[in-house]
Amino acid sequence: MIYNFLFLVATIPVALAHDNGLGLTPQMGWNSWNKYGCNISANDIISAATSIKEKGLLDLGYEYIVMDDCWALKTRDPVTKQIVPDPSKFPNGIKNLSDSIHDMGFKWGMYSSAGKYTCAGYPGSLDYEEIDATTFASWGVDYLKYDNCYNQGRSGTPSESFKRYEVMSKALNSTGRPIFYSLCQWGEDGPWNWASTIANSWRISGDIYDNFNRYDDRCPCESFQCIGLQGFDCSVMNIIRKALPLSQKARDRDGWNDLDSLEVGNGGMTYDEYVTHFTVWAILKSPLMLGNDVSAMSDQDLSIVSNRDLITINQDRGTQPAYSKWTKNYGDSIIILLSGELSNGDWVVALVNGASQQLTYNISMTDVFIDNRIYAEKRWVARDLWTNETSSVNNFIISNVKPHGTQVWRFSKSS
Ligand code: GLA
Repeated sequence: MIYNFLFLVATIPVALAHDNGLGLTPQMGWNSWNKYGCNISANDIISAATSIKEKGLLDLGYEYIVMDDCWALKTRDPVTKQIVPDPSKFPNGIKNLSDSIHDMGFKWGMYSSAGKYTCAGYPGSLDYEEIDATTFASWGVDYLKYDNCYNQGRSGTPSESFKRYEVMSKALNSTGRPIFYSLCQWGEDGPWNWASTIANSWRISGDIYDNFNRYDDRCPCESFQCIGLQGFDCSVMNIIRKALPLSQKARDRDGWNDLDSLEVGNGGMTYDEYVTHFTVWAILKSPLMLGNDVSAMSDQDLSIVSNRDLITINQDRGTQPAYSKWTKNYGDSIIILLSGELSNGDWVVALVNGASQQLTYNISMTDVFIDNRIYAEKRWVARDLWTNETSSVNNFIISNVKPHGTQVWRFSKSS
């Protein structure tokens, strides 16, 4: 306790989650929801962590193992009011599982909702924040994903949502344990405008599904401006469109736009589509949370999430996400030019082809450096981060992008 108290005084002068010392770069790890939904157990979580470690992904930075919804019994303990883990799924309790995850070298994450119930109908933490934060800390939790279902109408305006999420932020900090605070408000009250003082990241859309561009009525919003019903079954292109204007809202010490867990490895997209998905998530500095069965992953899918160059850009300290420089209609969809400066003065440049036609395009340096015109005159060497080929750039770079694919380069100054 004394240690906790000293730690709190020394490192958290203001009790705000963004001052919990975490989130200097977007979080990386694995989340159970996309692949397993409610079918989770201690064994599933341990085998996921085992595979992630065996495949070298922990060494690449995928360090948080996060168990999503459906871990609890449907009612709280009548005496202590704590949420009770389902003993049929977790026969040795959560602390035991958390210890095993820590012993393997990972950090341990859990899920609750800022509502009466979680989205799957288990007890939520609304009005039980202190009890639950204390319980999570006693179980060795390092990360809390905090959802939005059944919020009892305490939403609909930024200040209502802020107040509701702030209570858990303070409760987590009061435990003295640094706990990464990952808001899952789906963007319905514009968390990029208010969450940075209380959280480390915030979801910007309804739930992703394993599809590149299919419209689904359950995800009716096409833009971040659509307040009130973000829904679910949102395609990769739907989420990318919502994310493009929000790069200006993310940075270290403030927090990250969370585009949702990755679908790479779940089988619903082609190689080129997963390349687009991973590239855009990485350079927009979204959290990179794997969402698949890593033990059954193909070598090709593993190679996508293991792209060191893109992970390095995602984890580059002190830089903002890349920005969209333009979006243009092309074929049956759009193409997008993204670029952003890196901490050593290099640039990341990407051309996303949302269309189902092959794309050949001469990218102008005036467009790449539209806000930094002096750089447009410079000589650059561009390295393709998927093929590793290099080329010199002089006013233009020619891009050939497969249908639904993305070409991405790291630009370095030519000597
Ligand atoms: C919501 C969240 C998802 C997932 C489920 C669990 O839909 O947005 O990411 O956590 O709840 O029920």
